[in-house]
Amino acid sequence: ELPARIRIHEVGARDGLQNEKTVVPTAIKAEFIRRLAVAGLSTIEATSFVHPKWVPQLADAEQLFPLLGEIADVGDVALPVLVPNERGLDRALALGARRIAVFGSATETFAARNLNRTVDESLAMFEPVVARAKADRVHVRGYLSMCFGDPWEGAVPVAQVVRVARALMDLGCDELSLGDTIGVATPGHVRALLSALNEAGVPTGTTGVHFHDTYGQALSNTLAALQHGVTTVDASAGGLGGCPYAKSATGNLATEDLVWMLQGLGIETGVDLDALTATSVWLAEQLGRPSPSRTVRALSAQ
Ligand code: HMG
Ligand code: MG
Repeated sequence: ELPARIRIHEVGARDGLQNEKTVVPTAIKAEFIRRLAVAGLSTIEATSFVHPKWVPQLADAEQLFPLLGEIADVGDVALPVLVPNERGLDRALALGARRIAVFGSATETFAARNLNRTVDESLAMFEPVVARAKADRVHVRGYLSMCFGDPWEGAVPVAQVVRVARALMDLGCDELSLGDTIGVATPGHVRALLSALNEAGVPTGTTGVHFHDTYGQALSNTLAALQHGVTTVDASAGGLGGCPYAKSATGNLATEDLVWMLQGLGIETGVDLDALTATSVWLAEQLGRPSPSRTVRALSAQ
């Protein structure tokens, strides 16, 4: 049985743009986020408070975040931001962020490349971040990368993912997002991981899925997750994205492709597909190349 409604966690402005080589002007990012809100997206990941040298594209977080105040006028829009450590938390809280995300890894190689830490050292780095955020009533999402496969380590054992997922929940994260960072998952693997998490006491209701579409499996994987009871799905407008610290990762599941499928299934998202498509077409013009989303291409074809 499928859920009647799901929440889309829009990551185009963060996961999408972080991979763009050319720095996008701050005003364009703010306009992109505003248009996403107008299109009905209610959770829009805005930026990251990471080291600017690690992700130069998002080095303007201090300039961007204050521009988003007016988006509150559009409705009840949540604007989560990525925060790896206490320095990042200080920066985010100083600007009034009310939702943060820490981002761990199921594999040692990616933890080293993305966070300059071992898996356990990164959990130790997150511990005071989550504790302070919770004390301040700030909502915390815990991303978990490389839940299915890792470009350096190959297939990732389910038990290894469950251990880190459990640890993130034990730190106090309000929700998890299971990342298929390089897009290698298939539906059977998704079901196996969700079942193993349930057995370890991690409920599906607080677990989102985050699929990249490298092998064209993101929608099939999403459907498998919905059938398992998942109600939060990450996607990026126009299928923007990738990860600068994970070779071979392509963009996230395109939000338009997701909404097209959900509309067909009669699942409510609150998103206006035409307005969203127009936003992705507009952003593609700004970036100077077409959106990889099949739905954007189909709906915008002359
Ligand atoms: P580090 O070099 O180990 O940092 O990097 P450090 O703690 O040793 O500090 C070194 C210097 O950096 C210090 O400055 C700190 O103040 C400064 P100094 O005292 O030398 O002058 N610093 C900072 N400055 C600004 N903001 C900060 C910050 N932290 C330290 N937050 C660190 C460790 C975590 C900072 C670094 O590895 C980093 O920024 N990594 C971010 C990588 C990233 O953003 N990756 C992409 C997001 S993850 C993703 O895309 C996957 C996801 O989509 C899910 C999926 O698909 O799987 C979420
Ligand atoms: Mg990602």
